[in-house]
Amino acid sequence: MRSRRKTGDKTSTEASDAASVGGLEGGSRSRPLICGNWKMHHNHFEAIQNVQKLAYALSSEDHQHVEVCVHPPFTDLRSVQTVLQSDDIPIALGAQDCHSSDAGAFTGEVSAAMLAKLDVTYVIVGHSERRGLFGESSEVVNAKARAVMRHGMTPIVCVGETLEQRRAGQAREVVSQQIAASLSGLDAAAVVGSVLAYEPVWAIGTGETATPGDAQDMCAHARAEVAQGWGSRAAEGLRILYGGSVKPFNAADLMEQPDIDGALVGGASLDAAEFARIVNHRLYAA
Ligand code: PGA
Repeated sequence: MRSRRKTGDKTSTEASDAASVGGLEGGSRSRPLICGNWKMHHNHFEAIQNVQKLAYALSSEDHQHVEVCVHPPFTDLRSVQTVLQSDDIPIALGAQDCHSSDAGAFTGEVSAAMLAKLDVTYVIVGHSERRGLFGESSEVVNAKARAVMRHGMTPIVCVGETLEQRRAGQAREVVSQQIAASLSGLDAAAVVGSVLAYEPVWAIGTGETATPGDAQDMCAHARAEVAQGWGSRAAEGLRILYGGSVKPFNAADLMEQPDIDGALVGGASLDAAEFARIVNHRLYAA
């Protein structure tokens, strides 16, 4: 993989070539995507406050350099959507999961069709907590990613190995298999229009971060897998995020890596000020 600087050094031709395959535009890799996954935190009152604080903490320059998305719980989506729209705040709205069917007898589930009506842009699918705690296979993740795209939104497809798998030297193989199965049957245009998130399970919520070198190595591996399956143009255009204990102090080093195009942030996204310091990580870079 070629190495590159993270912000704004691509020519416009390079950028548009990289982001478009078969007419479907992916996001630009030169502008990092930083997503805050709130998980099961913040009721809708707290969500409104949090997003207002975040909007206040971010400057127009931050938004110019970084695409920011928040992923509140389902019950908060309508409230956050209203705040973002009425105050014209350039933060994207994301969801944490969805069902693969558009409607049906699936008690407790929420469809991608419903999320699209709330102006959701990004939907996380296959988070390791869904895979591990709720038994989601890569086949289910694949069906969810398809549902998200069917409704005009972008799936953030998560992959990543457990500590046991890493210790057993299986990290690459596990990630390769998850990518192959989660993106199975999609064409190159659909792949480049998605976002991949490499999240080593051992680094999630543990305070253990993969070193920037390890994270880069695995994200480069993921990109190489995509190149093999869907071609080099899809691989070059695909945005790959790193997730797992991203904090203000390590964000700049991680974001500088050539194959890391953004971050999926859990714990550190719950506090607006802390999350804002991750978004404007370039100000803290050495
Ligand atoms: P963390 O979570 O930042 O709290 O490690 C990341 C994630 O689960 O996406």
